[in-house]
Amino acid sequence: MRSAKWISASCDTGAGAVSFKKEIALGGKVASATLTASAAGLYEAYINGNKIGDRVLAPGFTNYKNRIQYQQYDITDMLSDGCSFCLVAAPGWAVGHMGYKGMTKLFCDKICVIARIDITYEDGTTQTVATDTDWDVWTHEVTFADIYHGETVDKTVTPASLGKAVESGREFNLIAEEGEKIQEQEILSPASLIITPKGERVIDFAQNMTGYVSLNIKGNRGERVRLSFAEVLDKDGNFYNDNYRGAKDCSVTYVLSGEQDSFKPRFSFQGFRYIRIDEYPDGDIELDGFRAVVVHSSMERLGSFVCGDAKINQLFHNIIWGQKSNYLDIPTDCPQRDERLGWTGDAQVFCRTAGTNYDVRKFFRKWLGELRCEQRADGAVMGTCPEADGMHNSTSRVSAGWGDVATIVPWTLYELYGDKSFLEENFEMMRRWVEYMRSAGSEEYLWLGGYHYGDWLAMDAGEDSYVGATSNDLVATAFYAYSTELLVKAGEVLGKDMSGYKALYDNIVAAFREYFMENGMPKAEFPLTEVLAPGKVKNIDTVREGMTQTAIVLILHFNLCLPEERGALADKLEQLIHDFGDRMSTGFLGTPYILHALSACGKTELAYKLLFNEGNPSWLYSVNHGATTMWEHWNSIKEDGSFWSTDMNSFNHYAYGAVADWLYGVTAGIKIEEAGYSSVTLEPRPCERLGFVRCSVKTPRGALESNWYYTEGGIRYEFVIPEGMDATIVLPDGRSEKVGAGSYCYSTGK
Ligand code: BGC
Repeated sequence: MRSAKWISASCDTGAGAVSFKKEIALGGKVASATLTASAAGLYEAYINGNKIGDRVLAPGFTNYKNRIQYQQYDITDMLSDGCSFCLVAAPGWAVGHMGYKGMTKLFCDKICVIARIDITYEDGTTQTVATDTDWDVWTHEVTFADIYHGETVDKTVTPASLGKAVESGREFNLIAEEGEKIQEQEILSPASLIITPKGERVIDFAQNMTGYVSLNIKGNRGERVRLSFAEVLDKDGNFYNDNYRGAKDCSVTYVLSGEQDSFKPRFSFQGFRYIRIDEYPDGDIELDGFRAVVVHSSMERLGSFVCGDAKINQLFHNIIWGQKSNYLDIPTDCPQRDERLGWTGDAQVFCRTAGTNYDVRKFFRKWLGELRCEQRADGAVMGTCPEADGMHNSTSRVSAGWGDVATIVPWTLYELYGDKSFLEENFEMMRRWVEYMRSAGSEEYLWLGGYHYGDWLAMDAGEDSYVGATSNDLVATAFYAYSTELLVKAGEVLGKDMSGYKALYDNIVAAFREYFMENGMPKAEFPLTEVLAPGKVKNIDTVREGMTQTAIVLILHFNLCLPEERGALADKLEQLIHDFGDRMSTGFLGTPYILHALSACGKTELAYKLLFNEGNPSWLYSVNHGATTMWEHWNSIKEDGSFWSTDMNSFNHYAYGAVADWLYGVTAGIKIEEAGYSSVTLEPRPCERLGFVRCSVKTPRGALESNWYYTEGGIRYEFVIPEGMDATIVLPDGRSEKVGAGSYCYSTGK
């Protein structure tokens, strides 16, 4: 940003916000004016006390050491004579608590800001005002702001001068904003005020969400309102937020001016459904003063799915809200505890569903740029992105199923939107990740050993285990094959010679089959080479297991078997499901594919059985327990009403929401044959319990619809196909027809 300097306060400003001010004398009638601004920290910009633009939490979350986005605003209409300009900045992701063990100053040791205003006058002359050491620094009414720990807004504060700004002495790489704007998206009113058995006053917004609570209130000067946050009540109906871990004491405090006040946080956000009112002026709580403001990245809604079963509709609702809650500039694991990180495994598991629900092109373009910056010199792709400084060399941050985000996300975006640039931009990252796996461990074609998160939170190693029973070696090698396959496909789309990687793929599949399988089945077990993930891993001896649901699901879904072996593998999977009480035992890596694996092998009825299961584990278990977002664990709330644990128990984790991809792809039957929906197969699999399905997706070609409903005597199907799309319609009675744009109706028997 030519001529502008990075500036900071001359003293330590702690966790409070600071404002950087400049009076601008205008030189005539303004024809146009633009503000360019950024911060290592979070910033808001004001002219004459009016906020510029409608973004919140700018400049967004990047690894500030690598790059920081700047934003541009047209401020032509906001300038007037004697204009006073102000940038308010707070610690945010860059300087406040963030990341592993809630460290501070992960990316920068102090708040730094930069801004430039370019004015063109009607007579053609120009003026530039840029940050330098002549800007004044003041304390601010936001006396505390921290992503994990909340915010205090004190309207009784009279800002004090901190003198002139100093040059920050930090160098940052500024890039134009790549991501979607982070904005306030929806406003929720309180559903009820609860007095809990403990006598605490709790407001229920009836929806778990991400954002903050705004408050309109008039009280006496100096009176305080203090709020704490929770996602659930405990089994007795009391406020519970032990699962927020280090962010458990997060609170938002508003100190009243004595006039009519409007409060909301500006430099933090919370994940919550309930708020506890810890302090409030004497008298009754005026519920109507409270609102929950939903904040996430702006994304256009593309996909919708409604059916005749209220529980499945609630599940779909929870999946959408899981995405809204966690697509806040980066794909986060959860929005409430001392984490909120771009966990790469979670992101890859959910990205296909996410990209069908919403247009996530811009959102992911920025994050993939981040991922490329974070890829280690040896090709490793880390567990989170942005990755905490100092973690890049940690052996515990590179894992199969997580690093594969590097291949899975670009390929998925290409398939969904038909935009080759996702492959062009990321091909090298994809290739280097495959090379990393090739060089990991002692075997070129197997990925043995290493530290993996494995089939995270699967139930087959016991309810309390973090890591499932499936061998990490098997999982790692399966993903190695899958990523190599995607690399080959990507290279072929780009017209590259991929014969070398094709041979690598064939070798990996052959080695997988030899090491992990016999007679077309996974071996029960093999030598234990894993370095186990730490934590409460029960049945340590069993983690070399091959005969698990997840192992078979990966073998089927990644095509690691011969076509003639699929039937027996699917039968075995069915038996394992039956042996587990007709339930899934899969975790983060097996669950997204289990229904696909079953329906691809002609076991759609069993897939529906799992979908409709209400026991633990199942998707409807959380629905029956009142969930309004997806849970991290199948049994975050156990059957007896107690909680899974305090240290890993989010009620807003989207990973298991990947099941929506099966609802779109199999229940509604929308299958992409050629990238960007230029060619599709429409092969719905109706099910009497659902009664009807209305599913539509705004594809790059236009709105596609697949609807069906049960009638007296049979089933009626209605499809709408937009211009530029070829569709093959396949009905359960075996009829099949190739069609172009238009509306089509069919009837079959039940
Ligand atoms: C996160 C997960 C993540 C995992 C890695 C957790 O703390 O919340 O969603 O993928 O760590 O195993």
